[in-house]
Amino acid sequence: MTVEHHTDTALALSLVETVSRVLGSLPGCRVTHEDGIVLTGTFTASPRARELTRAAHMQGDPVPVTVRFSNGFPDPSIVDAAENNPRGMAVKFHLPDGSTTDLVCQDWPVFPAGTPEDFRDLIAAQGAGEGPTLAFLAEHPDVAAAGEKVAAESGQPPLSWATMGFNSLNAFRLVDADGVGRYVRFRYQPEKGEHSLPVADRASAPPHYLHEGVTDELPIRYRVLAQLAHDDDQTTDASRAWPADREWADLGGVEITALDPDAERDGAVLVFDPMRLVDGIEPSDDPILRIRTHVYAESVRRRTCPR
Ligand code: HEM
Repeated sequence: MTVEHHTDTALALSLVETVSRVLGSLPGCRVTHEDGIVLTGTFTASPRARELTRAAHMQGDPVPVTVRFSNGFPDPSIVDAAENNPRGMAVKFHLPDGSTTDLVCQDWPVFPAGTPEDFRDLIAAQGAGEGPTLAFLAEHPDVAAAGEKVAAESGQPPLSWATMGFNSLNAFRLVDADGVGRYVRFRYQPEKGEHSLPVADRASAPPHYLHEGVTDELPIRYRVLAQLAHDDDQTTDASRAWPADREWADLGGVEITALDPDAERDGAVLVFDPMRLVDGIEPSDDPILRIRTHVYAESVRRRTCPR
């Protein structure tokens, strides 16, 4: 085992332990995003996608996908109408050669911290109370600024799983057939537009209206967008947005058509790993992206929940 791997594993463990303790992860369950629903569908890439990347699923032929929508807080009994519960959309693309690649996004506009250590220490400070949180934010103005953006631009419960935008936050590098690469951030953009559950309806909404209502929404359609970085845009800090004028390329559409009740049957482990990539899509050097694979593996190791 290399020193680097050992360090990553220790950092991932400290993240998982801090998050579990402060947010109250349930024993044997996913450390976060336990409350999810799995569906199936198809992704069809646009002609623009093929220009930007040689990735197998981006060449234009439809590929099957497994999609999981989730509420981010660990406790599945939190009602769907709760505010400030980060929500996720994770997609697994099934490639013609039998392998898979994942693209995991959430509804925040930026990540609330630029490094795994700052994220862990932010959560720990929040667990210690308001005073320690304010002290931490005063010492980390960049984390405070990211948190203000998250609070201002997200946190409202969506009308349905068909009306929320989700962002990869971390940057990736698309590589085309000639080997030319460019950095992007991905986004799932709902074709129905972004709509929140009206405030007046929140108290009376069924506790799990998102999951229960999902079949009424089918087919659910999302565009897969890629925001194209300029050469001098930073690609290693997910807590800072790129300038708003950066072009968004439309890479194609995800069409979600059915529930997938068997996805986790008989002990099958369903995990989405943002580092499970394919030729034509490379990771950036964002330390949060790099640690996620170790964090998710640790979460899987702790999962014993019968599903
Ligand atoms: C250091 C930062 C992060 C930590 C500690 C963290 C932690 C976790 C953990 C423990 C899980 C459960 C994994 C499993 O058992 O399968 C998870 C799932 C998830 N994370 Fe993160 N995460 C981080 C960053 C991010 C970022 C940047 C995004 C999105 C852009 C994200 C989106 C998601 C989503 C959508 C899921 C649910 C995947 C599914 O449906 O199975 N996370 N995260």
